[in-house]
Amino acid sequence: MLLYKGYLDIKVDPSLDLFKEINYLKKEKNAVILAHYYQDADIQDIADYIGDSLGLAQEAQKTTSDIILFAGVHFMAETAKILNPGKKVLIPDLKAGCSLADSCPPDLFGAFKAKHPDHLVITYINCTADIKALSDIICTSSNAVQIVESLPRDQPIIFAPDKNLGAYINKKTGRNMLLWNGSCMVHEIFSLEKLIKLKVQNPNAKVIAHPECEAAILEHADFIGSTTALLNYSKKSDAKEFIVLTETGILHQMQKSSPEKTFIPAPPNNSCACNDCPYMKLNTLEKIYIALKHEQPELLMSEELIQKAKAPILKMLELSAKFGL
Ligand code: 13P
Ligand code: SF4
Repeated sequence: MLLYKGYLDIKVDPSLDLFKEINYLKKEKNAVILAHYYQDADIQDIADYIGDSLGLAQEAQKTTSDIILFAGVHFMAETAKILNPGKKVLIPDLKAGCSLADSCPPDLFGAFKAKHPDHLVITYINCTADIKALSDIICTSSNAVQIVESLPRDQPIIFAPDKNLGAYINKKTGRNMLLWNGSCMVHEIFSLEKLIKLKVQNPNAKVIAHPECEAAILEHADFIGSTTALLNYSKKSDAKEFIVLTETGILHQMQKSSPEKTFIPAPPNNSCACNDCPYMKLNTLEKIYIALKHEQPELLMSEELIQKAKAPILKMLELSAKFGL
């Protein structure tokens, strides 16, 4: 029976215990599985490390494994490859892109940057390696505020590609960074009307939101932070109910860490009850098994691009270590 038709037109035997097979392949090949919180629960459960974008980049920097299987999206695997040019980086589905990265094409961004030569370019990690190569410092939602605050107040800054995260940082820091007009389809689609109704129905619930959400949504949040920060908040808070405004994959770890608490995914502006990232959810256990077994699809990048994109990522990692993040 054909369960999954991959790049190699490989059939996966449905009787296989994929958890056992993947664990065996990991050991045999000295491979590590790094997974983002937005992955399906079974992928999170087989991963060696689960984290947000910063945690995943830090983990990629220190891994001693020969193979990194990245269960996330393309820009995350690219970051792992840039930090480990000598290692094999596998990605279960090469089509796992990102609407936010797509919203910032390198030619247009290069022209925008050229118009503002006195500006420093801070770029959210959710962008392609070509955009990273045009940047001075990379940031994630975990360290963006600290990185901006570490710069002189009179330093003009371009922030790309997420206008919502950029606006949030401007508000938090009192800066006036020039924002690229990009956004994440998953975080832009939350319905304000449905959120307000949900708050009325659950008056004791804490509203926790990712800063990629629009400003009108963030105004209703009791806490705003990266996926790791949201998870940590849900663990430490005395509240028993939470309305969660980010991709639903994070609910798996929240529920695992606090089984006695209730997590309500905030509904999007369509008929769905919760909000999944269509790119993150392209990854499956079958695709991970095929990727590890056949060591494909492999993420390949030119040495030149790796070198150009590396400096702003290393700058971010250096600053994060300095901030104790
Ligand atoms: P963090 O991993 O920084 O929380 O960002 C979320 C995200 O959108 C990743 O694609
Ligand atoms: Fe990109 Fe948004 Fe999906 Fe993250 S959740 S990978 S930012 S589309």
